Amino acid sequence: YKATKARQVQSRIKQLEKVELIEIPDDEEHVNIRFPKPPPSGVFNVELKGIYKSFGEMKLFEGIDFRVNRGDKIAFVGPNGAGKTTLAKIIAGKIDINKGERVSGHNNIISYYSQDVADSLNPEFDLIETLDSVGSEKTIGQLRSLLGAFLFTGDDVFKKVGVLSGGEKSRLALAKILLSPSNFIILDEPTNHLDYSSKKVLQQALVDFSGSLILVSHDVEFLKPIANRVVDIRAGKLKIYEGDIEYYLYKRNAEAQQVSPVKVEVQSETSSRKEQKRIEAEKRQQRYKATKDLKERLANLENEIQSLEQELEKINAVLINPDSYNNPNQIKELNERHKELKLSLDKKVKEWEEVSLSLEEIEKEFTG
Ligand SMILES: Nc1ncnc2c1ncn2[C@@H]1O[C@H](COP(=O)(O)OP(=O)(O)OP(=O)(O)O)[C@@H](O)[C@H]1O
Ligand SMILES: [Mg+2]
Repeated sequence: YKATKARQVQSRIKQLEKVELIEIPDDEEHVNIRFPKPPPSGVFNVELKGIYKSFGEMKLFEGIDFRVNRGDKIAFVGPNGAGKTTLAKIIAGKIDINKGERVSGHNNIISYYSQDVADSLNPEFDLIETLDSVGSEKTIGQLRSLLGAFLFTGDDVFKKVGVLSGGEKSRLALAKILLSPSNFIILDEPTNHLDYSSKKVLQQALVDFSGSLILVSHDVEFLKPIANRVVDIRAGKLKIYEGDIEYYLYKRNAEAQQVSPVKVEVQSETSSRKEQKRIEAEKRQQRYKATKDLKERLANLENEIQSLEQELEKINAVLINPDSYNNPNQIKELNERHKELKLSLDKKVKEWEEVSLSLEEIEKEFTG
């Protein structure tokens, strides 16, 4: 018995030694994305003064003032179509404004990412060439490990950009941004095509980034450790929350229930029946206001989930049809799209669950 015990201890020690060996960091293999240290900007990157923006008849912004200060990590949140993308583009200097002024700060160097940017990468370049074109003086090994972090492995890295799927192009465009020597990064919905691990890589890189940042995203979990300022964009107005995303969620919830329902309860004990009815109506009104936004979001999410499911079903129908296998290119594309759809579907369902939960909590406060 003693002998076996001793052997066990021995082998345990050997095991530990092995583990330690494995953990010695190896720059070539370890995914460790460091931003090139950007030349610092002045005290602010971009300032907007009295900005008006319309599309044809539709007035989106009427007199917006906003400033991105050095080191700001800003999340743009708000409902679909509220103008997040448009504002990000105005700040990036990518679209014209109708009135007002955009001032670029001293030594402000912007990198901008959106799906459009990903779609306009040079199709003749392969992946390595695409990253190399940034001129970051990284070794091929470092570029390969960055690409690996964004799910490109083996011979993938010699593919031409022209053959990549939409999701692959966006991952490549993001990798490219991480190499650019900018001090202000603007990312519009960067996580749509990322899986869990590449999302984590991007997240960590953005936490470590020393410059300024604007992130347009619906992904609360992604934003949590990054954002230190939140801009809520809705109905043509910006509302700025000087805190992280948790602070924003807390504040918004509090705002939704501004008139405390508890107070109403206390009063009702001493009221006449008429008064009671009035209070009840008021309570309904408060509850309506508090839940309106969340209900809207739920309905939107339900629509989005439905159309994702419909597209998935269509793809499934093609994939199970034996004739489809005469066209391997199409199958490959469909498989890729299938993966993307599944990812967004999972995300939307998770978001739906979160929103339902908050809604339930608010409802409980009014009824309980
Ligand atoms: N080039 C354009 N021409 C006409 N209308 C536009 C144009 N770009 C945006 N819009 C409109 O401006 C509004 C704001 O669009 P924007 O893309 O900025 O919203 P968003 O907040 O980014 O929405 P989402 O969350 O869906 O991405 C929408 O009503 C949109 O239809
Ligand atoms: Mg948008």
